Amino acid sequence: MEQYVIKGGTPLVGEVEIGGAKNAALAILAAAIMTDETVTIENLPNVRDINALLEAMAEIGARIDRLDDHTVKINGAFVRDVPVDYDSMKKIRASYYLLGSLLGKYKRAEVILPGGCNIGSRPMDLHIKGFRALGATVEIRGGAVAAQADRLRGNHIYLDKVSVGATINIMMAASMAEGKTTIENAAKEPHVVDVANFLNSMGANIRGAGTDVIRIVGVSKLHRTEYSIIPDQIEAGTFMFAAAATKGDVTVKNVIPKHLEATTAKLLEVGCEVEELDDAVRVVASKPLRNTQVTTLPYPGFPTDMQPQMAVLLGIASGTSTVTESIFENRFKYVDELTRMGAAIKVESNIAIITGVHHYMGARVSAPDLRAGAALVIAGLSGEGVTVVDDIHYIQRGYEDFEGKLQSLGAQMERVSTEKELQKFRFKVS
Ligand code: UD1
Repeated sequence: MEQYVIKGGTPLVGEVEIGGAKNAALAILAAAIMTDETVTIENLPNVRDINALLEAMAEIGARIDRLDDHTVKINGAFVRDVPVDYDSMKKIRASYYLLGSLLGKYKRAEVILPGGCNIGSRPMDLHIKGFRALGATVEIRGGAVAAQADRLRGNHIYLDKVSVGATINIMMAASMAEGKTTIENAAKEPHVVDVANFLNSMGANIRGAGTDVIRIVGVSKLHRTEYSIIPDQIEAGTFMFAAAATKGDVTVKNVIPKHLEATTAKLLEVGCEVEELDDAVRVVASKPLRNTQVTTLPYPGFPTDMQPQMAVLLGIASGTSTVTESIFENRFKYVDELTRMGAAIKVESNIAIITGVHHYMGARVSAPDLRAGAALVIAGLSGEGVTVVDDIHYIQRGYEDFEGKLQSLGAQMERVSTEKELQKFRFKVS
């Protein structure tokens, strides 16, 4: 099993390039098979979740031609509308996007119920409600969701809760339904907009993405396109927080600063300097960090996917901070690990009460999920001594060459797979 081994205490300094948004890419890949023509997708992040989805899509007959690590050509002409029940599907929650795309294109789809990060119960009732509103019959049988319709018809759909997945899934199916669909209380995340732009570039008619009302006029056919995925705001935010926690000076390049506003606001509150450039942000942390309060909210609020990284930062800020998680109920599993590194955090229901400590201390910890794993790496980088992070396969689901990018900023860390390599690193840094 691979691990990260980190010697903390070196400020991160330099420039880092951010890749394409994983969560946009997952939906865009699934949507790419909605046409029989060939679609080219650029700025694809080369991470495990993406590769697992591509594998699963190939298994159901999509032609996948990987031109390089970040570019893929996809042809969905030979996709079979068979149950999508493969091991690769179970690995990623976003396989559920094939429900929306296959239902839209073939009017039937069956997809195994999603896996993914264990960060709390992740129901699909809103997706199902949307498909039913479009006229599909939806059943859950044998661990799979099966949807089918003679005809899909546009409808007015109100989402009781803001859901990124349900918004995108319904948007995809409605793109190929007859007539008009309105999604109210839609998610406004940048990747919802990116998926809408992608579908529109294939000939769909979607308006209002990025606001809470999305209007879709169905079309009968979609066509070829070439599309470049937006930068990953969570990868960017993670490097911004790593800069802050290590008292560094990092320019995070290839980003859309507007998408980072909530993250930037919190960095300013804790006492960092953030300079916004055209397609980059520079974070300088030269002063002691201060406490603050954070609540996760749907976009444009503070992202739940940045919550563990925020808590790590506040763990070494002066005073008492609170982090309230309002999206997923099980997203504080990293707290025990962080406590082993010296953090003083108490969790009461969905609120973490954090009393800042001077610094973290190296320890052996386990990544409980993707973002929390990245947060533990940040803690290790900022702390004293050597930290070993187990279960880094979670981190590799969503961060491309995480260690390589951090090393380029001066981080003393390595990815190791044997005890001998681990000892060698310890010896080197001691
Ligand atoms: C997506 C992201 C994930 C991010 C989350 C919130 C992907 C692949 N994953 O997840 O990284 O943390 O958005 O920004 O893009 N809910 C229901 N019923 C449903 C669907 C959702 O009650 O049918 C609830 C969820 O339990 C959660 C909330 O709605 O409390 C938001 O979830 P949602 O936005 O759907 O998250 P995902 O799309 O799964």
